Amino acid sequence: MKEPRRGVLRVLFVAAEAVPWIKSGGLGDVMGALPRELFNLGHEVATVLPLFASVDRIEAGLELLATIHVRFLGNDFPTRIFAASYPRSECRALFIENQYYFERTGIYDDPLTGKPWPDDDERWFFFQIALLELVRQTDMQPDLIVCSDWHTALIPALLRIRHQENRALQQTRSVLSLHNLGYQGVLPAVSITKLGLPRELLFPLSPFEFYGQLNCLKAGISFADEVVTVSPTYAREICTVELGHGLDGVLRQHGERVRGILNGIDVEEWNPATDPLLEEPFSSSHLPRKAGNRPRLLREFGLDPGFGGPVLAMVTRLTGQKGMNILAGCLDRLLQRDLRLVILGSGEAQFEKFLSDVAAAHPERMAVRVGYSEALAHLIYAGSDFFLMPSRYEPCGLSQMYSMRYGTLPVVHATGGLKDTVIPFLEDTDRATGFAFEDYNAEALLEAVDTALSAWRNPRAMRRLQKNAMKQDFSWAHSAKLYEELFFQVCEHSRWGE
Ligand code: ADP
Ligand code: GLC
Repeated sequence: MKEPRRGVLRVLFVAAEAVPWIKSGGLGDVMGALPRELFNLGHEVATVLPLFASVDRIEAGLELLATIHVRFLGNDFPTRIFAASYPRSECRALFIENQYYFERTGIYDDPLTGKPWPDDDERWFFFQIALLELVRQTDMQPDLIVCSDWHTALIPALLRIRHQENRALQQTRSVLSLHNLGYQGVLPAVSITKLGLPRELLFPLSPFEFYGQLNCLKAGISFADEVVTVSPTYAREICTVELGHGLDGVLRQHGERVRGILNGIDVEEWNPATDPLLEEPFSSSHLPRKAGNRPRLLREFGLDPGFGGPVLAMVTRLTGQKGMNILAGCLDRLLQRDLRLVILGSGEAQFEKFLSDVAAAHPERMAVRVGYSEALAHLIYAGSDFFLMPSRYEPCGLSQMYSMRYGTLPVVHATGGLKDTVIPFLEDTDRATGFAFEDYNAEALLEAVDTALSAWRNPRAMRRLQKNAMKQDFSWAHSAKLYEELFFQVCEHSRWGE
């Protein structure tokens, strides 16, 4: 048996997204920062990603690293692996090329239908099988593979079942990181055979089976050496029927292995004092300069740039998770307040249409931009006063941390990581960094906004709240250490007793 080492860890992160190359939400931000942070602690770290069409090969400086052979669905796929460096770092990202599966616009969904690609099983199975072939054929011998969400959650099972006898992979442990339990990769039962695993493995109540179908996340939870999620509160919540999305039983069974480590943010990338996307950079000691960003924000959204009242904002994926239904339940009343509401978001067509329709009916009070724009997002975090996050559930949430760093006070539903990062005004006026409501309904949301608006009318209270928010340390430094400790423990004690 290999001696446990407390020296250098060899860690491979595997994910569907990582900034600056691929991003649809917070997972991209986390994968753009955490691997580099661990690398900076002295470990050998790389992140493996699919080479999606959206990756600009020239701008990324991709270099051919190897060509491997992947046997999949009875075919031999010669597969090129490219490498690039993280910005401001020598930490590497590796990209698996497959023109057929990955050279499409849209990471998860077909942009034409707004639905998942019909061959989703094959795309992600290929990716995971190719990853393990990459490790095997280039003899990487990682101590640990860290999988993120269902797209990579079959790796622990493949390690245990298909590669048990494989010298290059025998000692490799796995960690499954849960960024959102709402997406589990529930696929037709027969898909399991495309993984090269027998259909018989999917018997009732087996680690793969979920109401007669294949559940990738359940398999990940069942086979990984360790399961971790992105905030302590969410780690507890997912073990309950309300927020367990049907996997709470499995999670409770594995309860002692589910940890919650709070995400950090990249405080260099998200720094209001140096952010090139702002009209006017600012810091907590030059807070009045924040106001220099407001007219440009309002103008960009077609609102009166001279408006002097509070600006409320959202930057969000437009899905049920993000609290769209309770927002809809109070939007008319919200717009009767003396405020402006700006929303940047994209997602489900029903929500895009609903918000656009309301904005069209109140063009002087509310503006919506349907789409994805990093530049506008930065301007919103800087130029608004309050940031609304009425999420039904929120594993961690990064947007509330960005907004606090930019002196914009979050108004949140007290759930998951929102609970772990925002100190509510009504709980602790002196230390408060934002506003929170407990009950998930439109009335409670409106009440929290009204509390925020009354703070707005007291400039001294506002300034204190803003300074408190900007003072918070959301950097990765602390959490990266917790991950390091967790990874050492996983390498020292495999749950499989090797
Ligand atoms: P989630 O990952 O559930 O979407 P997070 O709060 O963790 O939520 O992260 C969301 C990230 O995606 C933030 O970086 C946010 O700024 C960004 N984002 C979401 N929607 C958009 C959009 N339409 N345009 C630009 N950035 C967006
Ligand atoms: C998911 C969650 C979000 C979290 C992000 C990064 O997208 O919805 O709450 O911040 O992953 O972990």
